[in-house]
Amino acid sequence: MAEDLSIVQGDKTAQYQSIIPQIKALTDGEPDLVANLANTVAALKEQFNWFWVGFYLVKKDELVLGPFQGPVACTRIKKGRGVCGSSWAQAATLIVPDVEKFPGHIACSSLSKSEIVLPIIRHGEVIGVLDVDSEHLSHFDETDQQYLEEIISGLNFED
Ligand code: SME
Repeated sequence: MAEDLSIVQGDKTAQYQSIIPQIKALTDGEPDLVANLANTVAALKEQFNWFWVGFYLVKKDELVLGPFQGPVACTRIKKGRGVCGSSWAQAATLIVPDVEKFPGHIACSSLSKSEIVLPIIRHGEVIGVLDVDSEHLSHFDETDQQYLEEIISGLNFED
């Protein structure tokens, strides 16, 4: 496909339903993981203009920063630390309406106010997380969870 995106206005469901097939078209048939993660976060950033969106990948006993869009961020996060490390430890999606109320939240930027972190699970193991930050409180809900899980499940981590 041509490497330009169609960006839509409207509610978040309409936005996800527009961007998901475009992410699929960008990543299907491309085996390179970094290229696919990079285009996925770039497409999400263009559609939603979130403050920060990116991947952390499990390497040995830490999460290590992967492709992202937004301000520079913490490079390494231990299991169980912060929202990302907690999502990894619990193998569960965490929706945090107010990051200041999350014990141990890692503030890469004081501008981030709410956050959603989804684990990427393959063969029963968490191999990374997708982290999205907003500068608005209570920005993420189950609609984001549902569609972001769909995006994650479509990514090929087997290369
Ligand atoms: N806030 C995250 C750290 C990653 S940055 O937000 C990009 C956390 O508490 O795990």
